[in-house]
Amino acid sequence: MALSFFTKNKKAHLARCRDDYATKMRLKYAPFYHAMEAQRGTTVQLGGKEMVMLSSNDYLGLSFHPKVIEAGRAAMLKWGTSTTGARISNGSRAFHLELEEKLAAFLNREACHISVAGYLSCLSSVATFAQKGDVIFADKNIHSCLWDGIRLSMATVERFSHNNPDDLREVIAATSPDAPKMLVIEGVYSMEGHIARLPELAEIAEESDCFTVLDDAHGFGVLGRQGRGTVDHFALNDKVDIICGSMSKSLASTGGFVAASREVIEYLRTNSKQTVFSAAVSPSQAACAQASLELMQNEPEHLEKLWANTRKYRAMLKSLGLDTWESETPAVPIVLGSKERVYPFWKALLDKGVFTVMSIAPAVPAGKDLIRTAISAMHTEEQLEKIAEAMAYAVKKM
Ligand SMILES: Cc1ncc(COP(=O)(O)O)c(C=O)c1O
Repeated sequence: MALSFFTKNKKAHLARCRDDYATKMRLKYAPFYHAMEAQRGTTVQLGGKEMVMLSSNDYLGLSFHPKVIEAGRAAMLKWGTSTTGARISNGSRAFHLELEEKLAAFLNREACHISVAGYLSCLSSVATFAQKGDVIFADKNIHSCLWDGIRLSMATVERFSHNNPDDLREVIAATSPDAPKMLVIEGVYSMEGHIARLPELAEIAEESDCFTVLDDAHGFGVLGRQGRGTVDHFALNDKVDIICGSMSKSLASTGGFVAASREVIEYLRTNSKQTVFSAAVSPSQAACAQASLELMQNEPEHLEKLWANTRKYRAMLKSLGLDTWESETPAVPIVLGSKERVYPFWKALLDKGVFTVMSIAPAVPAGKDLIRTAISAMHTEEQLEKIAEAMAYAVKKM
């Protein structure tokens, strides 16, 4: 009897997998999970064809920098491939502390904690500090990891219109003044390329006594002095309680970080399940991130090139009359408004040797279906020309 009960439930889960409409569509049209056969910088090979990568987050183009590669190799030789344990138990090493101290100093914070994914770092930046009875004010366009953090915290969530200080003010005014409050925003919004209106948002947060968490996965390395990020860009370091982010973008590695006061980081190390029950960052992962962090400070040419390429790229898209959702950063969406328009555009770019990523509702708001593109310091003049030709072709195909 018990056996048939379990079998029945198991079959229900299998049926769910088999009948899932989104999975069926993904497998039919195969727009995602393209496994490239080779890569050299911003050149990738897909289906035997050479392509320009126009959708990675390697903003500073450091993932093929000889110093970064050598740092990863040397770390593996010295420390092995993995520490095979959580930081709290057997997994802590001197190189973790070294990277954390360097990141904290760079971000002008007392302390920092790194973890194996930006997703975990950002999720834990919310989930660890908010709890039932609190109210979280969240920009409605924040990343999935922050929504998951909000859900895990069991706090009440109040959404406000994207990057809209007036709406935030109204939403806060309608909330009990006594509840502990948290503001959750991004520094640079990954899909839209918008920079947070931090001066106004931080002022409101301060007036309302909100603990402020800012996910700067796409601002770190891109904005501020030497790429110190959105908070540095606005010189508002004392207005944000937590800066979290990813090491898989400008730092050309994988992993994430949470930077804050020492008190906040020590609380995280005690209470974050994502920290306590998850293995530590691997030696090569940490070493690549640390080498990139050093390059950000010693080789300003990467940041300069990133912005020069971004300006050229945006001017090119503008001349073609494409809608870039007023992106201000190297994360540049091409908004086409429906999945029927997005697919042929994406396919035309692919046919012309330019690799991009589609993003369609509900991943983006209805009517904002888009192609997500991102510029890197590694894109060459020749590649930008190839991209321009492909874009002109895709516009005609639409
Ligand atoms: C805003 C934002 N936060 C967090 C993450 C997660 O970072 P990671 O890919 O390192 O897990 C991403 C990655 O896409 C992101 O865009």
